[in-house]
Amino acid sequence: MGILDKHKIIEKNATLLLVLSFLVVTIGGLVEIVPLFYLEGTIEKVEGVRPYSPLELAGRDVYIREGCYVCHSQMIRPLRDEVERYGHYSLAAESMYDHPFQWGSKRTGPDLARVGGRYSDAWHVAHLSKPQDVVPVSIMPSYRFLLDRKLDGKTVVDNMIANRRVGVPYTDEMIENARADFLAQADPDADWDGLLARYPKAQTRNFDGQPELTEMDALIAYLQMLGTLVDFSTFQPAASR
Ligand code: HEC
Repeated sequence: MGILDKHKIIEKNATLLLVLSFLVVTIGGLVEIVPLFYLEGTIEKVEGVRPYSPLELAGRDVYIREGCYVCHSQMIRPLRDEVERYGHYSLAAESMYDHPFQWGSKRTGPDLARVGGRYSDAWHVAHLSKPQDVVPVSIMPSYRFLLDRKLDGKTVVDNMIANRRVGVPYTDEMIENARADFLAQADPDADWDGLLARYPKAQTRNFDGQPELTEMDALIAYLQMLGTLVDFSTFQPAASR
């Protein structure tokens, strides 16, 4: 009996085919997944990565609510064309405090993992208000209404507690100061020392240029910090350390 004849037996017996396929997939799955449990750092520790500040967290919620992830990824792959266009490939640690992660699955627009600092706040306000004013061929929709949606930070404590439940290391001190930090970050007259001690590299200024604190402020605070926490001039991957 040749090998093809033997295979015929499996192909003609649906149950046997199912059982054997299941076995093969199980073994393949185990080989891929089990090592991750024993690897000391499946997510390697990377200096600079910290939980989102309260305002950034609120901005992230706007990003999710508006479905920005439907058109934008936040995951730079380690391929030359991507790295040349967007910067250093994304590290697992950079999204370790994202619940849910924002890697996305489709790029109708560019990847946003390192968009922080690439444009001015005024550019973002203009672009989000009417993308075609800045990029005439853009098919991105307008989000001008974010300028009118005021924020008071009432839900930010609950938001942070929910994130803490799923593993984000928000300290009691961070939660006690959440509302004050939330209001301070976009207030040019505030004292930012506490905020900056709790959230190093947090950017502090009036993001949307209006006196009121709005969802536009929060979203831009979030966009401007994306990809800025890790210093890639000194970063070395674990494998080469
Ligand atoms: C229908 C798809 C679509 C949606 C939804 C969408 N965008 Fe875009 N976005 C685009 C396209 C296309 C571009 C490229 C043209 C341009 O710059 O407008 C773009 C560009 C951008 C850029 C500039 C990126 C760069 O590197 O030049 C930013 C920032 C951005 N979008 C943010 C957002 C945010 C924030 C949201 C949600 C509030 C959002 N987008 C929703 C399609 C989309």
